[in-house]
Amino acid sequence: MKQFKGSAHFASQFLSFLVFVTTIVSANPWDSYIYSPASRNVKPAAIHSLQSPVIVTGKTGDQGIALAAGGRISLDFGVEVGGWITLNADVSVNTNNSTPQFALAFAESPAYVRTISDDTGSTPTQDWDQALNVSLPRGSTLYRTPVERFRGGFRFLTITAYQDVTISNVTCEIGFAPETEHLRDYGGHFYTPDDDLLVRTWYAGAYTIQTNIGPPNTGRFLPQVRPGWAYNATLGIGNAILLDGAKRDRAVWPGDLGLQGITAFLSLGVDGLSAYRNALETLFYYQNATTGRFPFAGPATGSFRNGAQSDTYHAWSLIAIYNYAIFTGDGDFIAHHWTNITKGVDFILTALNDNEYGLHNQTRPNDWARQGGGGYNSALNALDYHALFSLSSLATSWTNDTAIHSQATNWSTAASRLKASYNTLLWSPSLNLYHDNQTTTLAPQDGNALALLYNLTTSPTQTSSLSASLTRFWTPLGPVTPELPDTISPFISSIEVLAHFSANQPLRALNLTRTLWSYLLDSPLMTGSTLAEGLSANGSLYYRGNAGYRNDAAYTSLSHGWSSGPTSALSMYVAGLEVVGWRRWRFRPLVGDLKSVTSGFDGPLGRFGVEWRVVGGEGNGTWGFEANVTTPVGTRGVVDLAWNCESVLVDGRVFGGEEVAGGGVKEVRAGGCR
Ligand SMILES: *[C@@H]1O[C@H](CO)[C@@H](O)[C@H](O)[C@H]1NC(C)=O
Ligand SMILES: *[C@@H]1O[C@H](CO)[C@@H](O)[C@H](O)[C@H]1NC(C)=O
Ligand SMILES: *[C@@H]1O[C@H](CO)[C@@H](O)[C@H](O)[C@H]1NC(C)=O
Ligand SMILES: *[C@@H]1O[C@H](CO)[C@@H](O)[C@H](O)[C@H]1NC(C)=O
Ligand SMILES: *[C@@H]1O[C@H](CO)[C@@H](O)[C@H](O)[C@H]1NC(C)=O
Ligand SMILES: *[C@@H]1O[C@H](CO)[C@@H](O)[C@H](O)[C@H]1NC(C)=O
Ligand SMILES: *[C@@H]1O[C@H](CO)[C@@H](O)[C@H](O)[C@H]1NC(C)=O
Ligand SMILES: *[C@@H]1O[C@H](CO)[C@@H](O)[C@H](O)[C@H]1NC(C)=O
Ligand SMILES: *[C@@H]1O[C@H](CO)[C@@H](O)[C@H](O)[C@H]1NC(C)=O
Ligand SMILES: *[C@@H]1O[C@H](CO)[C@@H](O)[C@H](O)[C@H]1NC(C)=O
Ligand SMILES: *[C@@H]1O[C@H](CO)[C@@H](O)[C@H](O)[C@H]1NC(C)=O
Ligand SMILES: *[C@@H]1O[C@H](CO)[C@@H](O)[C@H](O)[C@H]1NC(C)=O
Repeated sequence: MKQFKGSAHFASQFLSFLVFVTTIVSANPWDSYIYSPASRNVKPAAIHSLQSPVIVTGKTGDQGIALAAGGRISLDFGVEVGGWITLNADVSVNTNNSTPQFALAFAESPAYVRTISDDTGSTPTQDWDQALNVSLPRGSTLYRTPVERFRGGFRFLTITAYQDVTISNVTCEIGFAPETEHLRDYGGHFYTPDDDLLVRTWYAGAYTIQTNIGPPNTGRFLPQVRPGWAYNATLGIGNAILLDGAKRDRAVWPGDLGLQGITAFLSLGVDGLSAYRNALETLFYYQNATTGRFPFAGPATGSFRNGAQSDTYHAWSLIAIYNYAIFTGDGDFIAHHWTNITKGVDFILTALNDNEYGLHNQTRPNDWARQGGGGYNSALNALDYHALFSLSSLATSWTNDTAIHSQATNWSTAASRLKASYNTLLWSPSLNLYHDNQTTTLAPQDGNALALLYNLTTSPTQTSSLSASLTRFWTPLGPVTPELPDTISPFISSIEVLAHFSANQPLRALNLTRTLWSYLLDSPLMTGSTLAEGLSANGSLYYRGNAGYRNDAAYTSLSHGWSSGPTSALSMYVAGLEVVGWRRWRFRPLVGDLKSVTSGFDGPLGRFGVEWRVVGGEGNGTWGFEANVTTPVGTRGVVDLAWNCESVLVDGRVFGGEEVAGGGVKEVRAGGCR
């Protein structure tokens, strides 16, 4: 073992050298933050560990690995990868299926680099998936893992020899983002020289989403095979589909899409949107034609098969559809699905009209894994409110059809009524938080973060105290959710980050980002490149240990797009350029403690870009601000600075708050700001 230590050390030095070379030849300072591999065929970046008898020759990425029976090597791809493994194997003894020559095991976390793989079926013994045994004929073989042994997310590959074998040319053939030829070609970017962690967080969110884009036939085969795994089930419609996670579940989930879709658009551009759309088409396909209810999950899940239904995920479906519609400005998509959308909204209206308050009684409390639920649930009603409010605004802006406009009026009326009752029945003036429903004293993180984000509050004072009260759930690692004990949820905390920004509390939002996402990126339990689905309160991977995951920490997904909220928030609220409606944008940067930011995103509407900087204190306690804002022709927007300035000029003219036409670059200059 000792003699090989040097080679692992050399490997890491070589990797640093590569990073250095990439940095100096980069055109943009942010390119070096991109975690995506440069090729769809990726070689290991380093040796994680070895156990004799094993002899390694050659240089990193191109080693010959001679293993004798009992030998073992764990290879590190440096970042999360996923797909199939190819390798050249030389065997000198004949074998048969009962005695494999070697076995392959896959792990996401450095803490689970073992002779068996992470579980994708949960079990308290953590030994569901086991290892993939390989038996080859005598001689040399270019081996590829069988198609159904697709492995959606891993960073480490452990090869254990049962007989003498020499292995070389180990390669991961990337399976994710199947329509993206150059994985590092992103449609969006974000950079600030002031905070390295924020830039890393943005790119980890982007890469997480990329690893969550699956080819159509890589869903979990059900009933799950055991031991082992099979990922050959159909996931939905289209050639690249946005899934909840890389390793698992590998399924379309509407709640996840509510956050993932935004990040997919802002970071990956058209390839992100295409996978997002295919996930939505899958939801439309399985929408119940009688009730208008959207499915709780895509077809490759137990939840779909057993007919589980979810009121919150129904509302998330509509929110995800609305976001897609405004990001693309695609009127044909809306027209094609207008009946679907209307039926989906009618489902909510029927529930709201069922009682004197105009609130939704949650009878299908299936959700993101939280406990409780039921009654006039705060998260559900905040989601319903936003679905009604936003789709109503879409209906009046994408068409002049008067019948659709009167439909929209019904929707916004129902939304207003809901909001009034929400405050009467759920607001606790003593807690400055909303209760989970009308009969409980529990104040949840999810309902309160959603209420803050979607403006269920009725005054600036209430908004500000709600934002402050959410910090009561904070711990040194992040918020512990009251509605799922012992849990830190980066999904709900993503919503909370977005919510503090929307409430004009950038320092609080940045604090939460720096606290929880530094852990998600830099804890030695993590992949260092993608974002985990959840944690226990003490930071372990025993997420949902007693709530469905059977104390199986190796089951937890370490690449889950619902944890990418800060990526969206940094683009929309810190860089500050956000698509807010039908071909409409808003430039409202929240500078926090940063001095300069560059960001942008490309999509069907065209190119959006921002560069801004704060120009020094002006000696009397005020400061200045300069920005160049690029927006596409055919859009309109507002410049809405979140602080008071003595002067604001847009393209050299005094700005009075009017709407401006998009197209080209607008120069914003403000002075005497405080
Ligand atoms: C398979 O090969 C092993 C070792 O080479 C041998 O011990 C075993 O009997 C063989 N099994 C069969 C079914 O041929
Ligand atoms: C190495 O693996 C790649 C596939 O990943 C294959 O195309 C190539 O032929 C292999 N090289 C050799 C020498 O077999
Ligand atoms: C998928 O894999 C399972 C388990 O190996 C197998 O039973 C099934 O036939 C495969 N399905 C397809 C479509 O290949
Ligand atoms: C649609 O919903 C109705 C009412 O709940 C149910 O009876 C029916 O089976 C559902 N249809 C499908 C295709 O699931
Ligand atoms: C929704 O759209 C799908 C496919 O676009 C269609 O097959 C389905 O019937 C629609 N469902 C409803 C409820 O309109
Ligand atoms: C909500 O629905 C459940 C199940 O139908 C019912 O028992 C309960 O009384 C309802 N709650 C309210 C507040 O209407
Ligand atoms: C109200 O919420 C609590 C906490 O989520 C839950 O335990 C309870 O069942 C809910 N009440 C009703 C009437 O559904
Ligand atoms: C709606 O009508 C206005 C005013 O006539 C027109 O400018 C606009 O293009 C129309 N919008 C659509 C989507 O047809
Ligand atoms: C939030 O709602 C209040 C009314 O309750 C309204 O005055 C305010 O404009 C809304 N804020 C946003 C950002 O829409
Ligand atoms: C975040 O806020 C907490 C509580 O208000 C404070 O103790 C902590 O120092 C802040 N952390 C950062 C990184 O700003
Ligand atoms: C805006 O663009 C002009 C012209 O290219 C440049 O001189 C200026 O530095 C830019 N401002 C910012 C904030 O990047
Ligand atoms: C502060 O200084 C700036 C730059 O010198 C000036 O434009 C501004 O009017 C001053 N503001 C106040 C409140 O004195």
